[in-house]
Amino acid sequence: MRLFIILYALCLTFVSVYSTSLPPKCASVRVRKEISSISSTEWELMKSALRKMHDDGHFNRISKLHVDNFATIHGGPNFLPIHRVLTADFENAARKYYPDFVLPYWDAAKDFQNPANSLVFTLPYTGGNGNPQNQNCISGGLQAGWNMTYPNNRCLTRIFNGPNNNINSWYSPEFMTSLLQTHKQYDDFRSNLEFTLHGAVHLGISGDMTSMASPNDFAFMLHHANIDRYWWKWQNIIPENMMSYNGRNAKATSNVTLDDTLEGYPQYKARDVMALGYGDMCFTYDDVTPSSNTNQNNNQSSTSGSSSSDNDQAVDGLKSLDVSSLKRFFPGLANGKKNPNLFDMNIVRYKISVNKLITITKTTKVTTHKGKPRKCYKKQLSKRQSNDGGDDSSNDPTDNSSSQQGTKLLPVPQMPPDHWIEMHGYDKNQVTSIVNNGIQLVQTLNAQGYISPYLQ
Ligand SMILES: *[C@@H]1O[C@H](CO)[C@@H](O)[C@H](O)[C@H]1NC(C)=O
Ligand SMILES: *[C@@H]1O[C@H](CO)[C@@H](O)[C@H](O)[C@H]1NC(C)=O
Ligand SMILES: *[C@@H]1O[C@H](CO)[C@@H](O)[C@H](O)[C@H]1NC(C)=O
Ligand SMILES: *[C@@H]1O[C@H](CO)[C@@H](O)[C@H](O)[C@H]1NC(C)=O
Repeated sequence: MRLFIILYALCLTFVSVYSTSLPPKCASVRVRKEISSISSTEWELMKSALRKMHDDGHFNRISKLHVDNFATIHGGPNFLPIHRVLTADFENAARKYYPDFVLPYWDAAKDFQNPANSLVFTLPYTGGNGNPQNQNCISGGLQAGWNMTYPNNRCLTRIFNGPNNNINSWYSPEFMTSLLQTHKQYDDFRSNLEFTLHGAVHLGISGDMTSMASPNDFAFMLHHANIDRYWWKWQNIIPENMMSYNGRNAKATSNVTLDDTLEGYPQYKARDVMALGYGDMCFTYDDVTPSSNTNQNNNQSSTSGSSSSDNDQAVDGLKSLDVSSLKRFFPGLANGKKNPNLFDMNIVRYKISVNKLITITKTTKVTTHKGKPRKCYKKQLSKRQSNDGGDDSSNDPTDNSSSQQGTKLLPVPQMPPDHWIEMHGYDKNQVTSIVNNGIQLVQTLNAQGYISPYLQ
């Protein structure tokens, strides 16, 4: 009986805290899925909606909004709520052209080893690198031939940051899992997310993606839906995280509050967009379990996302780290917690995208900007399929300069260049310390013999 009363009281607290501070609950909630889980029929419908949106100036409008507010929406707590609203704005605009449009997200961490080989960069999706012989214009994919008109008339550009049309390796699912487990304060979580995977994906694609008008590239939306997914995962780890908001915005003289108006979207206060499923934020992500369910049901997530068994291979490997490393990088694992929001390792999702990539490269003539087939595709894919570990040709532990196919070591993340730090007004010491922490995680995993199931 006493237990019942306590539970009842807790439940009332939960309901009252939320109902006094949140806008009304959505009548229905859309589920954003990983782009590899979208059927090709669905994706074709989305693509024609995107083209119409572009023709009607929505890419321009959102890019301009991003540019106009650039200096105050990065490097501070409002980064996450404002970019959440940007994705909602984009999705709502797309639904006027195709009412079933739900913005997909791109789980970029699963492609960390060789990002240029991602499904996202194939011709049926967003195409690959720009062509240096043609002003770095993209020559294939969704936006090929589009005239981007903001900030001036030109093509969409990409300048992949690695050699030979590659993109340098970035942050792994293991790193993202650690990120979800190691930050109790909102703004600490935000800065770690912003300065690691968030920046690495922009820098890896480059061209428009490293300009202030980055929303010109549809990859921006796929990427920011994913960044938003991490925040929503973190918000659902424990109920206290849901409305957690602290720190100071760029150029601000006082700390943030939930009643702050969002730059570029004066119709919203921060509190209006904190909880997905309320107000105008009528969407969620397929692998996030609501925090109200995470204690009762440790077994699986609420939707089609990962269950803990999907993570077993990676989780077992991480568990064999020494105790102090486990406590430092994976405190959630050290505590034996099974809350699925503490993890970002989804082998099922990874395999779906690899299989789709194989199908696409079989049926599409994949070309580089020079018009020659990508020689390495088949070799890499068959290596992935057979999942062998035998190719040691590039297994040089000191070679962390770019993508490293064939090695069983996790690649070391790169420090973002100074121009990126200056462009955003980031605190260089803070960025350095956060990226160094990511480097130490990789070095620890490599030194202790951890083998990632996401390495080819
Ligand atoms: C893009 O602009 C150029 C030059 O203004 C024009 O020739 C071309 O037809 C336009 N392309 C599209 C797809 O609108
Ligand atoms: C502002 O926030 C910082 C850290 O987020 C905190 O240390 C500081 O005490 C806060 N200042 C005020 C006036 O609340
Ligand atoms: C998961 O659920 C099944 C049946 O619902 C139960 O038998 C099993 O013990 C649960 N596993 C864990 C780890 O809780
Ligand atoms: C690889 O990373 C380590 C640690 O950051 C660094 O000391 C080393 O110089 C890097 N090697 C190369 C070839 O970049």
